[in-house]
Amino acid sequence: MTAQLNPRGDVAVLVPAAGAGVRLGPGAPKALRPLAGEPLLVHAVRRVAAASSVHTIVVAAPATEVEAVRALLAPVAPVTVVPGGAERQASVAAALAAVPAGPEIVLVHDAARALTPPGLIESVAAAVRDGHDAVIPVLPVVDTVKEVDAAERVLGTVDRPALRAVQTPQGFRRSVLLAAHRSAGDALTDDAGLVEKQGIAVTCVPGSELALKITRPFDLSLAEHLLSTGA
Ligand code: CTP
Ligand code: MG
Repeated sequence: MTAQLNPRGDVAVLVPAAGAGVRLGPGAPKALRPLAGEPLLVHAVRRVAAASSVHTIVVAAPATEVEAVRALLAPVAPVTVVPGGAERQASVAAALAAVPAGPEIVLVHDAARALTPPGLIESVAAAVRDGHDAVIPVLPVVDTVKEVDAAERVLGTVDRPALRAVQTPQGFRRSVLLAAHRSAGDALTDDAGLVEKQGIAVTCVPGSELALKITRPFDLSLAEHLLSTGA
């Protein structure tokens, strides 16, 4: 059954899904690879659509797969599908350009975080609604982190209690994300990084272990296991 989005919702969610998935090994673009019998993107979009304040979903698909992705997602939820770009940032910009007038909160969410709970999407949106311009979900870092040089020699130990691992969805007041993307000069940073460069405060909220990014084959196995236990 196709999910209904909330016509009175105030949130647009951008789902960049145009990456190749090189680190997952040879195969289809990552967003289209199966996880428990369904493409990663289907899992991701189903959870986004289940978040009650979501008004609009825009997916940036691999350019050659736009029609296939439209057909794939039609039974899942009403979504707009646009061709993505060569870098994640270009894919996000393409999706952002397709958001209709209305939603004043924009979330940017990786398709690769396929098991992200709807509750995390709502908590990021709620923090933006409460007045924060930019909001990121984070987890504490559990490993000790060292800075090294090109020869793998240790330069120093980073102060772990001050570190956070950053997830998506990252949430923004719409005008703030638009301004950040308009002046984007660094293709390697995440969306919150672009906003930081504008001198705008970025606020953290608690992330979720289930919002792990499926990057390597191990992550796919872990996600399969989590689904089998009810995630
Ligand atoms: N992404 C995108 N457009 C790109 C590159 C990435 O929309 N040109 C999306 C991916 O589809 C993914 C998210 O950005 O949902 C996070 O990127 P990542 O996990 O790095 O995915 P891939 O780029 O597909 O993986 P890899 O880097 O291993 O190729
Ligand atoms: Mg990538």
